[in-house]
Amino acid sequence: MPVILAIESSCDETSVAVCNNGKITANVIANQTIHENYGGVIPELASRVHQQNIVPAVQQALAIAKVNKNELNAVAFTRGPGLLGALLVGVSFAKSFALALDLPLIAVNHMQAHILAHFIDEPTPKFPFLCLTVSGGHTQIVLVKDYFDMEIVGETLDDAAGEAFDKTAKILSLPYPGGPLIDKYAQQGNPLAFKFPEPQIQGLNYSFSGFKTAILYFIRDRQKENPQFIEQNLADICASVQYSIVNILLNKLKKAAKQYDIKEIAIAGGVSANSGLRNALTEMKESLGWNVYIPAFQYCTDNAGMIAIAGYQKFLVGEFVGQDISPMARMNF
Ligand code: KG4
Ligand code: ZN
Repeated sequence: MPVILAIESSCDETSVAVCNNGKITANVIANQTIHENYGGVIPELASRVHQQNIVPAVQQALAIAKVNKNELNAVAFTRGPGLLGALLVGVSFAKSFALALDLPLIAVNHMQAHILAHFIDEPTPKFPFLCLTVSGGHTQIVLVKDYFDMEIVGETLDDAAGEAFDKTAKILSLPYPGGPLIDKYAQQGNPLAFKFPEPQIQGLNYSFSGFKTAILYFIRDRQKENPQFIEQNLADICASVQYSIVNILLNKLKKAAKQYDIKEIAIAGGVSANSGLRNALTEMKESLGWNVYIPAFQYCTDNAGMIAIAGYQKFLVGEFVGQDISPMARMNF
């Protein structure tokens, strides 16, 4: 007790998980490859593919978890933030499923769930901790005081870190989403081959729009001299871009850790799958005496396992919602 079914459909992953008494026993993720052809997520297409994926993903998750739908105690779902049409598919499914089986509903904030993914497996961070949440849509430093008591102490003023990766990839003519590909090519490159300027933003906030423009101009200028510049230097460009983004992210995180005098440090969100960021953070365990928490790969990018664990915590405190609930494209903590 309790057995919770969780649904995630905020962007381009249809994901369904089962949480059995605090343990994730299934985490099915149906990727939508259709967006690769367009260089970004097409919202209308995402909604249509969620609609096709959701029923098979639920059946598969229940089969993997060896749970009959009559054994479920609640249905958790992502309420927002995300693409409205995509969220609508998950929210509508969760509501009808709960209505048919007479189950309580649990609404989860996607960004909080990325952070709560740290409570899926041991070791878990101790409160209060700082979490750098870096995804395709967000870049935030969050002060996490309790499961649902979180405060954003720094965030991007424009593009997210994931966008900086994806837009660089687009400039390099790599398919969407480019973040994982930049990571892959970076492993064979020299991170100090090219230098890019660090944005000069006060306090704990970030900015990545100028960084993206700097890369665009850099590539354009080098290509004027050598049309084969990208092909001949792909690994070095990727390694240098990744090194710069990781430095920008970690410099503010170090500043926040000092300001709040906290050594419990976590990362979350799709970009936390990045090997450069994971390695740099691991080094800080030694150099700064941080206790570092890095999620398992399958819980970094969008997944319903994180929605399920957030739903479990809400179940324990009896935080349910009614059938009148609707999705929210923009949603604060
Ligand atoms: O959290 P997420 O799956 O979806 C959002 O909520 O946005 O994050 C997706 C983002 C994309 O920008 C993707 O390129 C980036 O995470 N990403 C990576 C890596 N894996 C995913 N960025 C850099 N390196 C990676 N290994
Ligand atoms: Zn996400």
